[in-house]
Amino acid sequence: MKLFIGYASTEGQTQKIARHLMDRLVGQGHSVELSALSEAGPIDLSRFDAAVLGASVHVGHYQSVLSGFAEAQADKLTAMPSLLLSVSLAAAGHDAEDWRGLETILSDFAQATGWTPAEVVQVAGAYEPSKYDVFRRFVMRRIIAAKDPETDLDWDKEYTDWDALNAQIDAWVAKITT
Ligand SMILES: Cc1cc2nc3c(=O)[nH]c(=O)nc-3n(C[C@H](O)[C@H](O)[C@H](O)COP(=O)(O)O)c2cc1C
Repeated sequence: MKLFIGYASTEGQTQKIARHLMDRLVGQGHSVELSALSEAGPIDLSRFDAAVLGASVHVGHYQSVLSGFAEAQADKLTAMPSLLLSVSLAAAGHDAEDWRGLETILSDFAQATGWTPAEVVQVAGAYEPSKYDVFRRFVMRRIIAAKDPETDLDWDKEYTDWDALNAQIDAWVAKITT
């Protein structure tokens, strides 16, 4: 199978996840084209059997480059097997309100772009104070202190569950190839 993986990433975790996915799919014998949506030129999705788009949540939204791409490619994305990787810190916990928030972000995104992903994988991202400016560090420290009181707020912490992600991706690939 030939797959397109396009991603948007502000601090780098979605990029890491997208690269991980590429390595896994290539290891399984698939052909993958990986593209940072911010740098991608025009892409003809009809060259691919399936598409994975990934982006992260910042202040309740995915990166606008994802929305622009999804809107421009909505018809093709709808006609092919597609998956959205939604990366956030809300997905790192079990707070019902946080998860309802993720659903709202997703439905707003689908309404705005005209693309309702056939499959969505909610992925826990990372807390990376080493990459934040002073303001972001202040805001994120307060959020993480409330969510994960045990953690050392001065250090980066990855919440991504790689095994769970692998299992979800493998299940999706099995579904679209059978
Ligand atoms: C300024 C800022 C705002 C964020 N806003 C949210 C948010 O509204 N909801 C959420 O679940 N996570 C939020 N996050 C967490 C990010 O989604 C998480 O850190 C993710 O791993 C970032 O992925 P990236 O490195 O690919 O950009 C925010 C992070 C930052 C730095």
